[in-house]
Amino acid sequence: MKIISSPLELKEHLKNIKLSVGFVPTMGALHEGHISLIKKAKEQNEMVVVSIFLNPTQFLKGEDLEKYPKKDEADKKICELSGVDVLFFPNSCDIYGVDEVSILSPKVRGYVLEGQSRPGHFNGVLTVVMKLLNIVNPTRAYFGKKDAQQLNLISLMAKQLFMSVEIVPVDTVREKDGLALSSRNAYLSKDERVEALKISSSLRLSSAMVSKGVVDAKEIRAAMREVLAPLEIFYVEILDREFNRLERVEIGNTVILVEVKVATTRLLDNIWL
Ligand code: PAJ
Repeated sequence: MKIISSPLELKEHLKNIKLSVGFVPTMGALHEGHISLIKKAKEQNEMVVVSIFLNPTQFLKGEDLEKYPKKDEADKKICELSGVDVLFFPNSCDIYGVDEVSILSPKVRGYVLEGQSRPGHFNGVLTVVMKLLNIVNPTRAYFGKKDAQQLNLISLMAKQLFMSVEIVPVDTVREKDGLALSSRNAYLSKDERVEALKISSSLRLSSAMVSKGVVDAKEIRAAMREVLAPLEIFYVEILDREFNRLERVEIGNTVILVEVKVATTRLLDNIWL
């Protein structure tokens, strides 16, 4: 596995390669969720590039940029063992200069759900993803369905800016007890982790209700809120795959999303029905 930190060196390295390239952007502290993206990229491409970059512009003031888990050496091992060909490991100054051009997320879709409680977060996400995609120029790029709004906005960006990369969604990987894997789970104490299970329980309940024929979004949202209480709820939403609000669940076209705060940790999850 080659480890490269300079964007220009990486561009040079990839320039004459005629193979299909799968790209997995991450912020490090890699877990099984990230590994499933890498596996899918390996299945579908002849070469795999992973980036590890803790992108400062997607964190708002007072958020967890400073305490975000860092596991550089373990991450390198995971990439090596997963068969990654190139690990892109830039520093902030390799990616950002001063007085920068940036990508703005859409005025509505970028400022609802997570974007409502974290205004401007998705500008930072889209800007760094655009930069990374331009550096790697992959055939396909892999994003987790767990961050459904991020996936939706990146797919929109690729489509609306006529980019040639294929954005590939990957299913959420969970612990045995249902908790969706997240680098931020590391912040949870034992008791908080138990509280966090309410998130996947509420989603399981929504899916069970739909199986029993309940499709009214209001009724499902209310039942989910009961399961989530007394956690601080940012949102419980039932949307179609284009992220428009639904009155009734449409099987094959619905995403049910939850974001809550467990103690000081923001956690999100969703299911696609
Ligand atoms: P990060 O949180 O490190 O996640 C990297 C990728 O892994 C994202 O596409 C995310 O959706 C996916 N992922 C995280 N947990 C997952 C799980 N349990 N199952 C499946 N996939 C999972 O998301 C980011 O980084 C950043 O915003 C980034 C896109 C890299 C831009 O900085």
